[in-house]
Amino acid sequence: MSRVLVTGSAGRLGRSVVSTLAAAGHEVIGVDSAPGTPPEAAATLPADLTDTGEAFEVIARFRPASVIHLAAIATPFSRPESVIFKVNTQLAFNVCEASVALGVGSVVVASSPTVIGYGAPGGWAPSYLPIDEDHPVRPWNAYNLSKVAAEQTMKAFAEAGTTKLAAIRPCFVIPPEEWAGAPTQSGHTVAERLDRPELGGVSLFNYIDSRDAADMVAVLVEALPELPNGEVFFAGATDALARKPLADLLPQVVPGTEPFAAGLTGASPAFSTAKAERLLGWQAKRSWRTELHDPDLHDQEPKEAE
Ligand SMILES: NC(=O)c1ccc[n+]([C@@H]2O[C@H](COP(=O)([O-])OP(=O)(O)OC[C@H]3O[C@@H](n4cnc5c(N)ncnc54)[C@H](O)[C@@H]3O)[C@@H](O)[C@H]2O)c1
Repeated sequence: MSRVLVTGSAGRLGRSVVSTLAAAGHEVIGVDSAPGTPPEAAATLPADLTDTGEAFEVIARFRPASVIHLAAIATPFSRPESVIFKVNTQLAFNVCEASVALGVGSVVVASSPTVIGYGAPGGWAPSYLPIDEDHPVRPWNAYNLSKVAAEQTMKAFAEAGTTKLAAIRPCFVIPPEEWAGAPTQSGHTVAERLDRPELGGVSLFNYIDSRDAADMVAVLVEALPELPNGEVFFAGATDALARKPLADLLPQVVPGTEPFAAGLTGASPAFSTAKAERLLGWQAKRSWRTELHDPDLHDQEPKEAE
């Protein structure tokens, strides 16, 4: 097993990534500007990685075999747009540049399904459903534009050919405490998102358990040396965060999905993870049906679309 440096190690995804990689036997170095990295990390370092010198310093000090870059302003519109764009793009550039310059073997960069462009105020419709990695991107705000830039940054550094890089697009991340009722990133509980389809509808009811996303990261770390350089992967649950089939729900809450939603019967999600299954042998194991701490909801089985 190897030394892995995780940026954003105190975040909702970072905490699961640190624990999962440590449990798999890696020596994990957590780097974050905020406290909260799990104790399983072999070392924890406070650093502001928008500072190029600090980014080079942490990687030069620990010489990790792999870097998992999760640090970002992760919530759209949570800060001024110019700040989100500047911070997220600078972070991706600094971490990729320092990793490649210092001979890190592999780098995984967190992108986001928001790059697809859903929720655009001027209207948005998918080109097809379920959405996969070949679907066109249509960023319209600083956050999803910064994630398109992060993916392109990752691909630009892949061109050097010396470090293997990939990006993952984790769906709406739900860590264990949020199944137990803590507010999600949007401020609503998981149960509220299920009760009020308009909340999760804008992101097409996508989600993933943080431990499943962490499992994908762990698989990627192992697989990257053999993969083509610069690949992008969606990381989503095998079902939708919805009580009804998306064939019924999507046309009600997302105008423009009508021509494509009919195939999303049963529990089918709007995002495909077929690429990760094919290239990595990875599939999410957890579902809201198994994780949500609300027994009343467990008998909610999806019904086939009429
Ligand atoms: N949460 C989601 O639903 C979701 C979905 C898709 C993609 N993502 C992406 O996954 C990654 C992790 O998301 P998350 O939900 O864990 O976010 P989070 O906000 O919980 O964690 C991000 C962490 O990055 C750290 N950070 C921010 N700026 C930093 C800096 N300048 N230097 C060092 N550390 C810094 C923060 O302190 C925080 O602990 C992000 O890149 C996010 O954009 C998240």
